[in-house]
Amino acid sequence: MMDKKEKSEAEAAGQPETAGNPRVLVVGSINMDLVIRVASIPQPGQTIAGRSFSTLPGGKGANQAVAAARCGGQVSMIGRVGNDDFGQRLLVGLRGYGVDVSGVMISEGVSTGVATITVDDKGENAICIAGGANLLVSREDIEEQEERIAGADIVVMQLEIPPETVCYTIEKAHQHQVPVILNPAPAPEKIHPGLYQADVLIPNQDETALLCGEPVNDIHGAKLAGTALIRRGAKTVVVTLGRRGALAITAEHMIHVPPFSAKIVDTAGAGDAFCGAFAVAYAREKDLFQATRFAAAAGALACHKFGAQPSMPHLDMVLRLIQRSC
Ligand code: RIB
Repeated sequence: MMDKKEKSEAEAAGQPETAGNPRVLVVGSINMDLVIRVASIPQPGQTIAGRSFSTLPGGKGANQAVAAARCGGQVSMIGRVGNDDFGQRLLVGLRGYGVDVSGVMISEGVSTGVATITVDDKGENAICIAGGANLLVSREDIEEQEERIAGADIVVMQLEIPPETVCYTIEKAHQHQVPVILNPAPAPEKIHPGLYQADVLIPNQDETALLCGEPVNDIHGAKLAGTALIRRGAKTVVVTLGRRGALAITAEHMIHVPPFSAKIVDTAGAGDAFCGAFAVAYAREKDLFQATRFAAAAGALACHKFGAQPSMPHLDMVLRLIQRSC
């Protein structure tokens, strides 16, 4: 038991005390986001003047870790950064959010992952990623840190680290009876079949379309595409549909969760807020509908502020939004 005078790392970082809460392990990417705000996203060949520039912590993995921590999870991460200033700043930032980064390794001779992001006046974005150290997260790294997987209640991954590593982590997690959530983002045109072994697949509308090879323009299209992913072997698919809400699909059920109203400032990281929040709620309750609803509220709130990690909502904000919408 902790001495009363001693503060946990989470408390010291201004985060809620989370002992006894779901243990979420995120295996994934850590990027520095170089963000320029623009009136509209430039077309190929066009040069435009931006309104402002910010350097902000990002990476789908790290964003999801922060979202899960703010929603009350005990969160740790496995990943890699370069031995550079960005890497150091990102690790300090994650610790500040209460994420245990002792499983994040430092790679020599390669840069930390970087994303250049343009955000337009409507809050839409275009992102280009240089994966850097994220691309070195390997099977060996996972083997070395197997204990972290065994000790987790849920594992969360995305596709900004090599897909072979993701597949291997799914296998390892299943050996330890730990469920896996996979956010297949960015979506590859050809998905590795092993990725369908994840327990819950959370693609957005565009990623669902890419995975299925069919356009997804509305809820009906999402139902068809999500069902096709189930036929390919996915156990549960949750398609995030932005202002149309989200659709949770299993072989037996299909549930549409309506959207929460959102004041759109910046949508970057909204999908990550959804995945991180979903992980905490799903690990806690094992209820697909409740977890999807909780996650949809977190995703909506993440659009209210500029930047990915700074916009991740706290648990009380998510609960208040759900209560207001009842
Ligand atoms: O989902 C948003 C994230 O995608 C950004 O933070 C960027 O780093 C890219 O990984």
